[in-house]
Amino acid sequence: MDNRVILTETEKSGLHVSSHPLILHKLSILRDINTEPKRFREVVEEITSLLCYEATSDLPVKTVQIQTPLVETDCQEIDARIGLVPILRSGMGMVGPMLKMIPSAQVWHIGLYRDKRTLQPVTYYNKLPDQATVDVCLVLDPMLATGGSAVATIDILKQWGTRHIKFLGLIAAPEGVKALRQAHPDVPVYVAALDSHLNDHAYIVPGLGDAGDRQYGTI
Ligand code: URA
Repeated sequence: MDNRVILTETEKSGLHVSSHPLILHKLSILRDINTEPKRFREVVEEITSLLCYEATSDLPVKTVQIQTPLVETDCQEIDARIGLVPILRSGMGMVGPMLKMIPSAQVWHIGLYRDKRTLQPVTYYNKLPDQATVDVCLVLDPMLATGGSAVATIDILKQWGTRHIKFLGLIAAPEGVKALRQAHPDVPVYVAALDSHLNDHAYIVPGLGDAGDRQYGTI
């Protein structure tokens, strides 16, 4: 029997899968089993920069006066405090390129692991201050597999007081998109690819293997 997950139109509505040829080309390098960690990390960074561009196209801007060498003129600057929240450990590889694009972004870490007995995410690291210090949070995780960590992280960010949250990843499984869009229908998902399904070990198929191991050479 085919148990493949089918996404509803509502679940698909906030899902942005890039069709940019550069992203498609670079993704094939990541999927290749022969790509070494150094190259893998570089390509994760390159795709993240391109996804960042797509995912931030609706950030608010405000007009500021700038003096050019010739005249004073109206210019635009980003009008939001932005937080980056990498999901540990593989989300760390996406932080560098995001900071290059948004140097003023704050980086907040939330550590979660999945309890082997209950299969529920348990928080082991959270140093968020009492009040939210950002207006927009970009949650970073290369692989949206079951969606458990993403949903739990976004739960925490909403309790913290962040209202505008986006998820950025490299590859999503339909299972993860469904879980995330059902739990947080207001959170758009930006990915480079939507793959076929999860296997029995919750790996994305065809996927690229373990994104953490492939970045850090720990296979
Ligand atoms: N995490 C990974 O790194 N890879 C998968 O395929 C699923 C989860």
